[in-house]
Amino acid sequence: MFKDKKIAFYVTGGIAVYKSIQLMRDLIKLGAEVKVAMTPAAAEFVAPLTFQVLSKNAVHMDTFSEELPQYVQHIHLADWADLNIVAPATANTVAKLAHGFADNFVTSALLATTSPLFVVPAMNEHMYEHPATQENLQILQNRGAYIMEPETGFLAEGYSGKGRFPESAAIIEALESFLIDLDEQLPLKGKSILITAGGTKERIDPVRYISNDSSGKMGHALAEAACRQGAEVTLITASSLPVHKKIRTISIDSAAALYKEVDQRFDQTDALIMAAAVSDYAPAHQADHKMKKQDQLTIELKKNRDILKAMGKKKAHQILIGFAAETEHIEQYALKKLKEKNLDMIVANDVGQSDRGFNTDQNEVTIYFRAEEPATILLTDKTKVAEKIVQLLIQQME
Ligand SMILES: Cc1cc2nc3c(=O)[nH]c(=O)nc-3n(C[C@H](O)[C@H](O)[C@H](O)COP(=O)(O)O)c2cc1C
Repeated sequence: MFKDKKIAFYVTGGIAVYKSIQLMRDLIKLGAEVKVAMTPAAAEFVAPLTFQVLSKNAVHMDTFSEELPQYVQHIHLADWADLNIVAPATANTVAKLAHGFADNFVTSALLATTSPLFVVPAMNEHMYEHPATQENLQILQNRGAYIMEPETGFLAEGYSGKGRFPESAAIIEALESFLIDLDEQLPLKGKSILITAGGTKERIDPVRYISNDSSGKMGHALAEAACRQGAEVTLITASSLPVHKKIRTISIDSAAALYKEVDQRFDQTDALIMAAAVSDYAPAHQADHKMKKQDQLTIELKKNRDILKAMGKKKAHQILIGFAAETEHIEQYALKKLKEKNLDMIVANDVGQSDRGFNTDQNEVTIYFRAEEPATILLTDKTKVAEKIVQLLIQQME
């Protein structure tokens, strides 16, 4: 998402300047090209040299230095940028931006830019909550800027309050959401995609259950990949892995709960990807209290409803993608499932090998279709496998 993105990174004079270094580095690690401009007040906190060395670009601070005669530097930066980030944004600079001031390099460049603006205010709680600051932030938001909400916590003043500069990961997540919302050209814009993940748990009693080795990593990676392509993603998951804020998440445990959640959303969905490892069986009776130890225990199992098969029967306009986790006769079983369950694609993987499939970070899969030739994705990170599966889904949807 940030690969080759040209980011103009504006640093203003708050105590959180040192934290913005981490944000800038993370953006560079994600592939962005970053050019920094600072206010003189920002340079009181951290020397421009730090930003210059880490961004590998000269830092702009003086509007009138104009070392390169072929450019007016603040206009050149404003025109160059695909995205503008002000981090941290002081109350003072927020006020200037809201009212169109152009009295230093930062405010002049930001008045001249036409690309999106992302603002990370950070300041004392009372400064942040002052009606002037709130009104100024509102003005910027009304003009299309994204205003990141500061965190509540321990402030530099020595007391707790709202105004802290958020963690870099949280800012990057918000930035991604902002960019996805802005880009109307993303291939899955306007599409609603339902994804299931994780191994379901079938309760024996309040503290024991039957489950499987699925971690949910593949389903969660698919949800993120579809989200990055602009889809409205709903993830129904039995896993507790973290999820991007832009993804609607529904936590479930049992196969019955999963069935209910999928079934009630299926009609409004454009595609369903069933990456969850759903238990085929559940205890016929669930004990209300913890079962006491016995010499021998027999648990009667009943078959769970087959969610994919049921959705295959209901299918109208939806693209239906299943997973076949097998340890033998993988192709044969996958093709059988594709046909019997009325799927459009089936992702087959060998869960009998320790370096791929369940509970690992990598996978190797072969995808079978109804008419086209199968496609194999060789052993790689699940995030990459997910991106390729989503590309194949996009082709199916075209
Ligand atoms: C120690 C210290 C810490 C400050 N921290 C902040 C801050 O976190 N947020 C803020 O809005 N202003 C803060 N200020 C006030 C700004 O530095 C001041 O308003 C300055 O004029 C901002 O200039 P700029 O917006 O051009 O960078 C701080 C000032 C000092 C002396």
